Amino acid sequence: MRHLLSTEQLSRENAIQILDTAQEMSAVGEREIKKLPALRGRTVVNLFFEDSTRTRISFEAAAKRLSADVINFSAKGSSVSKGESLKDTAQTLEAMSADAVVIRHWASGAPARLANSGWIDAAVINAGDGTHAHPTQALLDAFTMRAHWAKLSGNPSVGADLQGMRVVIAGDVLHSRVVRCNVWLLRTLGAHVTLVAPPTLFPVGVEHWPCEISYDLDATLDAGVDAVMMLRVQAERMNASFFPSTREYARRWGFDDARLARLDALNLKDTIIMHPGPMNRGLEISSAAADSPRSTVLAQVRNGVSVRMAALYLLMSGELRTEQSDAAAQHPTSPSSTDLPSAKDPS
Ligand code: CP
Repeated sequence: MRHLLSTEQLSRENAIQILDTAQEMSAVGEREIKKLPALRGRTVVNLFFEDSTRTRISFEAAAKRLSADVINFSAKGSSVSKGESLKDTAQTLEAMSADAVVIRHWASGAPARLANSGWIDAAVINAGDGTHAHPTQALLDAFTMRAHWAKLSGNPSVGADLQGMRVVIAGDVLHSRVVRCNVWLLRTLGAHVTLVAPPTLFPVGVEHWPCEISYDLDATLDAGVDAVMMLRVQAERMNASFFPSTREYARRWGFDDARLARLDALNLKDTIIMHPGPMNRGLEISSAAADSPRSTVLAQVRNGVSVRMAALYLLMSGELRTEQSDAAAQHPTSPSSTDLPSAKDPS
């Protein structure tokens, strides 16, 4: 496998290989000198057409911990604002000998376009494209769940997959690239996933995804849950009113203080609360929940560096095994070029 574009392309074996490698990489973060020589002399370009804090910084940290040279490119302040196309931008970076390009783009399908166009030779890693996919986020979420699941089993060496884990993902499913990647990866790893959202924030066709859907967050908690992942309300992608008010949203679909207390009342003492960040505190998650001992928000950020080290290393060394997942073969849902917005076509 040359590129990492979505989690649908990952077989169980691919996913486990990345997670196991990330586990080894996490040991580097514990050392006094947090460096490996694995990618010395190689160049990683971070190509960000959309804002990011966690993903951009952790890809940079990951590449540096592997001793790669790193070029950070942000569309703001670049010649993109003068109208330069994705193709010309990418080829400019290729001319600087990029071995891997980590790309975040507002257009769903831009990373696939870059990977399949023949414009560049570098490995392409999708760092989030439109509402389509964010595979390294899903992998770091799975890594975080796996550590928790292994601890619960009492045997940290177990944890090959998430068989039997009950995961609830709640919030703005419609606009979330994180949820799409999580549903596919968690299914591949054996978890049972329930999505919760207001009816207006489910996409058309969600009934065909490999998960349950619900409109009632309390009912899903009452049924028993091992991990609750709250999704950010993506106001910047909303061009209409999707719920009556922020207060109503927080009361019905937010993980508020009452729901935090509900986990205790239900004796769900080991349930973790996750959020990919950035968080809208007081909307989809209360501060008490975000800062509680159940919260894995900062662990997710920490784990992101290890997972991105693993992804960079495996793709750039050519060691990621090449089997395609059954899911990818049966559900080829990666956006085609016709899904790309024409007004600001990335080519
Ligand atoms: N979770 C995530 O992608 O965060 P950033 O937008 O800060 O990278």
